[in-house]
Amino acid sequence: MDEQVAREPRPVTGRVPQPVAAAADDVLAGLAPERRELFHLRVERWWPDVREGLAAVHGAEAAARLEVRLLRAAATAYARRDEDLHRLDQARTLAPDWFQRPGMLGYAAYADRFAGTLAGVRDRLPLLEELGVTYLHLMPLLLPREGDSDGGYAVADYRRVRPDLGTTEDLRELAATLRGRGVSLVLDLVLNHVAREHPWAELARRGTPEERARYRGYFHVFADREGPDAFERTLPEVFPDTSPGSFTWDDELGAWVWTTFNSFQWDLDWSSPEVLAEMVDVVLHLADLGVEVLRLDAVAFLWKRLGTSCQNQPEVHALVQVLRGVTRVACPGLLLKAEAIVAPDDLVPYLGTGGHAGRVSDLAYHNSLMVQVWSMLATGDVVLATRALQRIPPAPSSTAWITYVRCHDDIGWAVSDEDAAAVGLSGHGHRSFLADWYSGAFPGSPATGLVFQEDPATGDRRTSGATAALTGLEAALARGGRPGDEDVDLAVRRLLLAHAVVLAWGGVPVLWSGDEVGQPGDPGWAGEPGHEADNRWVHRPRASEVLLAERHDPSTVAGTVFAGVRHLARTRASLPHLHAATPAQVLDPSDPGVLVVLRRHPEGDLLLLANFTGSWRPFPGERLDAAGLGGAPDALTGRVPERGGDGALWLSPYDVVWLVGSR
Ligand code: GLC
Ligand code: GLC
Repeated sequence: MDEQVAREPRPVTGRVPQPVAAAADDVLAGLAPERRELFHLRVERWWPDVREGLAAVHGAEAAARLEVRLLRAAATAYARRDEDLHRLDQARTLAPDWFQRPGMLGYAAYADRFAGTLAGVRDRLPLLEELGVTYLHLMPLLLPREGDSDGGYAVADYRRVRPDLGTTEDLRELAATLRGRGVSLVLDLVLNHVAREHPWAELARRGTPEERARYRGYFHVFADREGPDAFERTLPEVFPDTSPGSFTWDDELGAWVWTTFNSFQWDLDWSSPEVLAEMVDVVLHLADLGVEVLRLDAVAFLWKRLGTSCQNQPEVHALVQVLRGVTRVACPGLLLKAEAIVAPDDLVPYLGTGGHAGRVSDLAYHNSLMVQVWSMLATGDVVLATRALQRIPPAPSSTAWITYVRCHDDIGWAVSDEDAAAVGLSGHGHRSFLADWYSGAFPGSPATGLVFQEDPATGDRRTSGATAALTGLEAALARGGRPGDEDVDLAVRRLLLAHAVVLAWGGVPVLWSGDEVGQPGDPGWAGEPGHEADNRWVHRPRASEVLLAERHDPSTVAGTVFAGVRHLARTRASLPHLHAATPAQVLDPSDPGVLVVLRRHPEGDLLLLANFTGSWRPFPGERLDAAGLGGAPDALTGRVPERGGDGALWLSPYDVVWLVGSR
């Protein structure tokens, strides 16, 4: 048997044709037989996903050529993967639900704003440990173009680290340090576009005639306005204020080029097999450095189709399936996370529906939940959220949502017209109300956010602002508020309520840096060169040493918020019911102000009740008793909540309970 394995370590089942499976034998030749066998087992398990995805995008013939190239790339990466990462791959393969467990907690930050440099991130480990963070997303840190780079989302070189943050070696070391402490490093993979200064774009502009011809094929290039005009008839705009239109005339190129975002971010043409193969190399390179999760930035935009919004096209999912299949073979410890901030109906396909179920991204941002949390806080009404969240189809049980209250981006008010109409609201009217409420324009609103990218064509307005700004904490602090003041306490309660919902949802909750201490927005955001026109910088402040130092002092606001967030995170980690494979079911409310979410787990049910109003609200005793949760303790207080004379469980303003039953 042993001898046989040594000679022919390749399982033969016919799922992957022999010539394909053998295409990388020379690359693997130097490996021990068990290692070769493992590679082939993975090919057998995951390569069919790659083949199918490629065929869907490129047709059978081109796909056949490309798959050999990708298989060899996977084998090369596999052969050079270091021992520590190899062990990680094995551990992850044995525990494929590792990222779904309730102990997972994310934290996202800009390395420089959070800690100065990559080396500085080490000094923040105590903070992360106190919170129980197991996933650290450092915002774009690969070499960006000079000047405005959209916060690093205009990459000039995927293989170099921003020099002011450190070197590639520093990144590798940081990844290893984090890994040693059970923290996964998460980086962005900016795959929809490159900077105009990236070598591919440089060569398209100024290479030799051959290079120009080759690299123009990496982008969507148009000689005149005919193509752009035709596409723009159905294209929504991402930055209508500051970068109107989706195409940019480039003098050097002598043509129009597709630029969905800023004029200096050139969209890649993913129908080119070269682009796919190049990006696969980038992915494998980042995996080699010890990155454990790649955030697929703006993934919805990868495929363009005339007459559509050029978002969420079926080919996007086929392409992600290819990327995932390749990485499962080369480095299965790596996860893919879709950043598709899209309408509720378009969201679940990023985790996989139909034939893609469980074969695309492992993680995806739940922007609908985020939007609905803010909508509930503004209105004190959970009816719309209940309807919208109930309607979202189930995600594959092997995947997880990224749940979040705030992130580095603006909030787009993704409330569908249909959901709004179903509860008697106008979609446009409600979206407009939310933009007014959170900019503080609506009478009675305590929020101090900003309007981001008003679109005159659609009347659409998005919102910037720190969690503290949107909850009213920023304004209360600006008035000199202290813990115990009513406006401060209510704002802190709103902040904790939002987190309590997001942390109990299941999936990986990701805290946005600063929110753990209720940090207000950055008043000086517009003073930094390149930022003046992009008010998202208001909610990307530098970490405040003062607030971080206060985090252990319960007499401060920062200390109160920190204790609250930490308590939620710790409690969550102890509750098996919150495993991401256990779906969050939103139940019909009994009171329009109280959100009801049930998690049915083999160990027992967990019922979340969240009062989104500033007044006391009841949850009927009969419903509790019928659910078998009449005497269930609230995991957050450790006590069985008292009932009123009417038998109801009364929730104080913005209060949350996590009732835990047992079987
Ligand atoms: C993503 C990022 C956003 C950026 C855009 C373009 O949506 O989150 O910050 O502007 O992609 O890369
Ligand atoms: C992309 C993101 C969206 C964001 C925008 C600018 O569209 O998907 O979240 O609003 O970029 O920040």
